Amino acid sequence: MQLSKTASSFTESVIREMTRICDSVNGINLSQGFPDFPTEEVIKNAAVKAILEDVNQYSVTFGSENLRRAIANKVKRFNNLTVDAENEITVTCGATEAMLCALKAVINPGDEVIIFEPFYENYGPDVILSGAAARYITLHPPKWQFDYEELRRAFNEKTKAIVINTPNNPTGKVFSKTELEYIAKLCKEFNALAICDEIYEHITYDGETHISIASLPGMYERSITINSASKTYSVTGWRVGWAIAPPNITKLIRTVHDFMTVGAPAPLQEAVAYCMELKEDYYNKLCNHYYEARNYMSKVLVDCGFELYEAQGAYYFLVNCEQLMKQFSVKDDFEFSRALIEKTGIATVPGTSFYVNKLKGFHQVRFCYCKSFDTLYESEKRLRKLV
Ligand SMILES: Cc1ncc(COP(=O)(O)O)c(C=O)c1O
Repeated sequence: MQLSKTASSFTESVIREMTRICDSVNGINLSQGFPDFPTEEVIKNAAVKAILEDVNQYSVTFGSENLRRAIANKVKRFNNLTVDAENEITVTCGATEAMLCALKAVINPGDEVIIFEPFYENYGPDVILSGAAARYITLHPPKWQFDYEELRRAFNEKTKAIVINTPNNPTGKVFSKTELEYIAKLCKEFNALAICDEIYEHITYDGETHISIASLPGMYERSITINSASKTYSVTGWRVGWAIAPPNITKLIRTVHDFMTVGAPAPLQEAVAYCMELKEDYYNKLCNHYYEARNYMSKVLVDCGFELYEAQGAYYFLVNCEQLMKQFSVKDDFEFSRALIEKTGIATVPGTSFYVNKLKGFHQVRFCYCKSFDTLYESEKRLRKLV
């Protein structure tokens, strides 16, 4: 029997493979982007409270009223967005589902979607599953900038949307206001949508601030803003995310979402609504931890022979490892990642997994540093074996 050609064309996540090898040598997993420190007590208690209060049945499919109201308040407070909780928010099972629902809600056969590469692993399959064709625009190190003219040439009458992820995984880039304004101008000119994944919005460094493209003049009506509790509240296993879009788009996102998953976990939606009332010091503490972790790990990696590029947000480094590849006598990023686990017990993600144009990631690997300082100290010890 011929099973789905599309599904068969997807390869297993490289991160899972690296995690498996890492576990087999009892290594440290700096490949997968989830925190290894405990979630804040108040956040855990909010979930326990909701379960004990018997919020245990299906919620409204597109999200509990409490959570949608909390999201509307939060985006007013942080993102300069005025959103109607009744008609413009869909709560989903993580940003992952929000992105797929968003694409499925807007794509028709023949449509094109522009994606910046290196990209978060899911975007390629998401675009294929939605039936669109992807066009890739490269972010160039060291500052991860894109060529404005190349981007303009990628837009055409078939362009339905551009996917932006800021702050960015895997590069750490925070898109500037000028860049977002340029993208917004192209979206208007070519009647395209901006689908913006803002899951790392609270993790920015060196005075950089996150800007929602939907908050730029004339952009709300052509934007879908995607976010989730995963990274902001260190609850990647809760699976609560959301998509904000004008009513006509939200209507279709909700329809797709309803058939896909019915709804996100009801008690955890209430807990996330609680989280959204946390004061500034919660967000400052989160960001400070990652700021210290970034500074600490950047020194370690440079000392050990990696070439680092700018990272102004999120919690990853996509580094150049060409020098060490020569030292290890390996021919590509995969062999390098495997050799690094063997020599140090540290797992990374091979750079080519973030590119369609594989050559661009050949000399790169991604480290994540969303870990406790104990883990980072131990990582340093192991990495210093290289020098
Ligand atoms: C850019 C980006 N978007 C989405 C996700 C997944 O989000 P969620 O856990 O909310 O599904 C990740 C997880 O690493 C990510 O890096």
